[in-house]
Amino acid sequence: MTGACVATPPLVPAGAPAYVLAADVRTILPRLDLVDLTISDPPYPWFTALQRLEREHGTLGPPETLYPVYTFLAQWFPFVLRRTTRAVWITTHRLYVPFYRALVPARAALGVWPTGVPDVCLLHVGPPLRAAPSPAVRALHRSGQDSPEAFWAALLALTPGTPPGLVFDPFCGTGSGLSAARRAGYRALGCEQDAAVLARLRLAQPAFVIGPAGPSQESDHGSFAA
Ligand SMILES: C[S@@+](CC[C@H](N)C(=O)[O-])C[C@H]1O[C@@H](n2cnc3c(N)ncnc32)[C@H](O)[C@@H]1O
Repeated sequence: MTGACVATPPLVPAGAPAYVLAADVRTILPRLDLVDLTISDPPYPWFTALQRLEREHGTLGPPETLYPVYTFLAQWFPFVLRRTTRAVWITTHRLYVPFYRALVPARAALGVWPTGVPDVCLLHVGPPLRAAPSPAVRALHRSGQDSPEAFWAALLALTPGTPPGLVFDPFCGTGSGLSAARRAGYRALGCEQDAAVLARLRLAQPAFVIGPAGPSQESDHGSFAA
């Protein structure tokens, strides 16, 4: 490696109980410190293309051959796994489950449950839970909209480990997951790139601090592509 070593400012100001980075999460992951739990309802690009492939061929084939989808997930999910000490909770459509499976290290357990929405799944990566998420909890999930805080709160309650800790939502939207985390006694860190969604977040969560992510590092961004 050549060049001067420059100290990078911390992503999150010390002591901030609920902080949201206004950024593309892929630019900040290389600078993320360890978090205790990650919870998220991520965006799912290329969904229509996946549905068409399944309809026309009856199968999607190996995940690695669908480069755009695989690459998008590979740009954030493995980073999140490495930076999260306790457990990761993700909601997704069943078509994306093979992509997640392909990215979870062999020794890590991946739990998959159907939710109350047809074809939508709830994923868990981490040590065994206190109990599997009940159908009543899973039915709380809302697809394509803000899931209620009760949904995220129930998942946090099932996860072994004791608060206080730090919960991270890389695609936090209007912040219901982070709000549930705050109510449960965690500190909360989110990321959201869309200005209109950030405006709604400001209204929904007036106590949250929204800040810039600081200088992004182009070289880091390039380094974690699959
Ligand atoms: C499915 S929504 C999350 C909804 C959220 N659970 C809520 O309560 O509003 C996904 C969010 O991720 C944001 N997003 C998409 N790509 C992103 C990226 N690369 N970095 C940060 N946020 C992103 C979108 O703007 C959207 O608000």
